[in-house]
Amino acid sequence: MRMVEIIEKKRHAEMLTQEEIDFFISGYTNASIPDYQASALCMAIVLQGMEREEIVALTRAMMYSGDVVDLSRIAGVKVDKHSTGGVGDKTSLVVGPLVASLGAKLAKMSGRGLGHTGGTLDKLESIPGLSIAISIPDFEKQVNDIGIAIIGQTAALVPADKKLYALRDVTATVESMPLIASSIMSKKLASGSDTILLDVKFGSGAFMKTIEDARILAKTMVDIGQGLKRDTRAMLTDMDQPLGYAVGNILEVREAIDTLNGRGPEDFRELCVTAAAIILEQAKIASSRAEGRLLAEQQLQNGEALAKFKQMVGAQGGDVSYIEHPEKFSLAHHIIVLTAQKAGYVAHIDSYEIGVAAMELGAGRATKEDVIDFTAGIVLKKKVGHHVAIGDVLAEVHTNLGLEKYQPVLNKIHDAFVLNDQPVEIKPIVYEVIE
Ligand code: URA
Repeated sequence: MRMVEIIEKKRHAEMLTQEEIDFFISGYTNASIPDYQASALCMAIVLQGMEREEIVALTRAMMYSGDVVDLSRIAGVKVDKHSTGGVGDKTSLVVGPLVASLGAKLAKMSGRGLGHTGGTLDKLESIPGLSIAISIPDFEKQVNDIGIAIIGQTAALVPADKKLYALRDVTATVESMPLIASSIMSKKLASGSDTILLDVKFGSGAFMKTIEDARILAKTMVDIGQGLKRDTRAMLTDMDQPLGYAVGNILEVREAIDTLNGRGPEDFRELCVTAAAIILEQAKIASSRAEGRLLAEQQLQNGEALAKFKQMVGAQGGDVSYIEHPEKFSLAHHIIVLTAQKAGYVAHIDSYEIGVAAMELGAGRATKEDVIDFTAGIVLKKKVGHHVAIGDVLAEVHTNLGLEKYQPVLNKIHDAFVLNDQPVEIKPIVYEVIE
């Protein structure tokens, strides 16, 4: 088999076989196929697309390019959830303990934030003492003992994706439905859970800008999961404004704790309850979505979900007193109150701009090597649908930067708020569920 023929076939929009795809993925992973041939094939895939069978074959080849986690020694249904990335997305911190408190086993491997999106691992690491570097045997034991562990992905998991994603990033081949879907699903499938819930976001702060594209990506990923015999479902959720009020690591952990205490922002709470209801249905802990919702609501009110979160934090070496007394978390040196210079109804809050602003304040990474300031971020004081008068507080801005550095960021945050003269309809946070 010759790589040049595989590239040529895809250039002519012909279907590739499992053998050809295996040849490409194993050859690229072991470096017998060079970057220039891999990037030519990626570009041909971007331009010509792939059929469903090819996407499943690509996902399977990537999934088996490294270790595949075997969770069979863990009793019960192993559940997983994955978000395609958003701004203010701390959902796993609430949904994980919530479903684990009802008997689901959440064995989750998460990622770090990059660019305008945050990552669950960084949020967890902002809890003093907490470690996400746990060996696979300890990970299994923790999930068996308490029902939940959230750790970093091991280097041996889907090495093909690590190489390919870095290559796509610099060859303008990231934006391809088959490549994105197989990249995400290979990692989820290699993590070994029985069920997968995908949170596919659409809007200004998301990978997919339109609901139509998000729907295609979600359907493709659900198809892949089901093609590989896992119960896979997807929610299409709105990212046309940040999720909840808090953006930034410690600020988001505090908002998650507030939600686990039965309070929290309405949109965030609704997303968590819906996600938990679907997962509980997948795990057969609830016989219907409606029953799942009731159970989820109950665990947020009765303190069980919070107790499970504390147990997880403790098991991973974190200082539980911060969860009991969130006021103990450090705050940034400067907390600037940003006020509105015009009046109106909030129609849209550009999540991308808010995500970039939070990153510039120190909450995120522009490059993988950047160090995060856990205290930095933004707390919105107005959301879509709210009325704003001149002088009203739009947001609280938390930073350790000096005035000359944060001043331009304040303007960016101010301009991310788009105001209308007329009242604005509030859209549901979960737009559709695909199963
Ligand atoms: N996230 C991934 O893991 N892979 C992609 O290709 C895009 C987003």
